Amino acid sequence: MSDRWYEKAVVYCLDIDSFADSDGDGCGDIRGLIGRLDYLARLGVTCLWLNPIHPSPGLDDGYDASDFYNVDPRFGNLGDFAELLHQAGNRGIKVIIDLVVNHTSDQHPWFQSARSSPDSPYRDWYVWSETAPADRNQGMVFPGEQDETWSYDRTAKLWFYHRFYKFQPDLNIKNPEVREEIKKICSFWLQLGVAGFRMDAVPFIIEETEPGNPNSPKDMEFLSELRQHVQWRKGDAVLLAEANVEPDQLTKFFGDDGGSGNRIHMLFDFMLNAKLVLGLAREDPEQIIDALRDTPKLPAGGQWATFIRNHDEIDLSRLTAEQRKDVFDKFGPDENMQLYGRGIRRRLAPMLGNDRRWLELAYSLQFSLRGTPVLRYGEEIGMGDDLSLNGRDAIRTPMQWSLLPNGGFSNADPSKIGRPVISGGEYGFEKVNVTQQRHDTKSLLSWFERMIRTLRETPEVGGGTCTHVDVPVPRGVLVHRADDANGSMVFVHNLGNKAGVVDLSSLAGEAEFPNDVLADQEYPEPGKLDAIQVEGHGYRWIRLRRTV
Ligand code: NOJ
Repeated sequence: MSDRWYEKAVVYCLDIDSFADSDGDGCGDIRGLIGRLDYLARLGVTCLWLNPIHPSPGLDDGYDASDFYNVDPRFGNLGDFAELLHQAGNRGIKVIIDLVVNHTSDQHPWFQSARSSPDSPYRDWYVWSETAPADRNQGMVFPGEQDETWSYDRTAKLWFYHRFYKFQPDLNIKNPEVREEIKKICSFWLQLGVAGFRMDAVPFIIEETEPGNPNSPKDMEFLSELRQHVQWRKGDAVLLAEANVEPDQLTKFFGDDGGSGNRIHMLFDFMLNAKLVLGLAREDPEQIIDALRDTPKLPAGGQWATFIRNHDEIDLSRLTAEQRKDVFDKFGPDENMQLYGRGIRRRLAPMLGNDRRWLELAYSLQFSLRGTPVLRYGEEIGMGDDLSLNGRDAIRTPMQWSLLPNGGFSNADPSKIGRPVISGGEYGFEKVNVTQQRHDTKSLLSWFERMIRTLRETPEVGGGTCTHVDVPVPRGVLVHRADDANGSMVFVHNLGNKAGVVDLSSLAGEAEFPNDVLADQEYPEPGKLDAIQVEGHGYRWIRLRRTV
C-alpha cells in the first residue's frame, strides 16, 4: 500500500492577498491566513497550495517575482511564514508554494543588472537576440494582452525573450548558474519547511530558446536533475507541475526510470478538466470516459491533480472547435465571460446557475475521479465572479467570511481593497459567506465538509486505479470505480437532469455489503445491486468492499 502523502491529499489553493487581512491595510496577509487554519482543518483539506508569495511588482498577481528569497512585505515576513508552516503542521496541513522560475519580473535585480551591461554577471541569465527574431509574434500565451514573445530592450540594445507578458523576461535554462540558482531557491524553501512546489509553466522553463525557432528543444533532463535535488533535500517533497501539453507529451514530464517516475510527481490534468466541463455542458459523460481511457499509464508514484476551477481561465484549447462552442454556449455565452479566445473566466457557481444539485454533482464527480483533488478557495461556499474586473481578476475577489463590512475579509476602508469584495446580488457576501453556511447543516459548505471527510475515508480514490465501468446506463449517467488494496468503490453520477435506473448487477459478485457512503439524497439500500436509482444531477458513492 502506497504511503505517498500526495496521493491522498486534498489540496486547497489560495492567494494570500485575497484570503484574510489581519492588520486592516486592505491586503490579505499570512497572519490572516494563520487565523483561518482551523477553518481549513475543519473543511478537511490536508495541503495548501499558495499562489506566489514573493515580493513582486504585482503586474501578474505575483507571477512576476522580484526576489525569490523573501515573502511579499504586504503579506508579512519570513518569520510569519515560518509560523504559518508550524501552525499548519500542527493541524496536519502541508504547504506547497508556487515556484515561478520560467521568468522573473523585469524589476528583478538580476534582469536590471543583465540589461545594464554586457559585462554583467547576470547577462547570460536571460535569453537575448541581437536581431529581431522572425518568430517574435508567435507563441504568445495571452493573446489580446500580449503582442509578441520577443521585445526590444533599449537599455541592453537587444531583443529579449518573454513567453508571457513583456515584464516577465525568461530565464536562460541553458546557463548552469541559472539551473543551480533554481535548485538553491527550492532548497531554501524546503529548509523552511514547505512540502513541495507547484511549478509554474514547466514546458517553458525547460525551453532552450533559439531565436527564430518557435519549436526550440526542451531540456527534459533538467526535470530529473531538479527532482533528484529536491528529493535529496526532503525525501517526501512533491513537485506539482503545470504542463498543459499534448497528451502524448505528458509521460515525458513524469519521467520513467525503469517503471518509477523520476521527474515530476504530479501533473494537473488539463485534459480531464476541459472534458469534465464539456461533460457538464453537454450533460453527457462520453468525453470524460474518453479522457479516462485515453490518458497514458503513469509510472509508479506519478499522479494526476484533478480540478474544475483554478485561478486562471478554464482552458478549453484542447477541445475541438465544436466542443468548445458547446461549452461557451452553455457556460460563457457573453464575450465578456470568455478570455483569450480559449477559456472562461467565471467561477463554477455562476456557470451552473447557482443550482445546488448541479454544483454538488460537479464537485462529487471531480473529487471521486482519479488523482488528487484541488479546490480553489471560495468554491466551497459557492462564490461568484466579478466580470467588471479585468481578465482573470474576475475570479480572484476576496474570500467572503461573514456579514461584517467587506465580507469579514478586511476592516479597511473599501477603497483600500485592491479587488473589491463582491457585494449585493445573488453572490454578494451578504448572501454567500462562511459564517452563515457554517451554522447551516444543509449549506454547500457543510456538504463540502461531509464530502471531503468521506473522501478521506475512501483511500482507493487517489491512491488506487480509476476506471470507467461499462454497464448499460441511461443517457447522461457515468459509472466509474476506484480500487486498491483497501477495497473497491463504485460511483454513479447523473450529469443529466432526468432520473434514471442503472443496472449494476455485473458488480454484485464482488460486493460484500454494498452501501451508500455519500449520495445526493436518501436512496433505498443498494441491496443486490440489480437496478439502482439515481436522480437527475444525482450521485451515489457505493462501497463494494473493504479489505482492511
Ligand atoms: C501560469 C499561471 O497559472 C498564470 O496565472 C500566470 O499568469 C502564468 N503562468 C505566468 O506565470
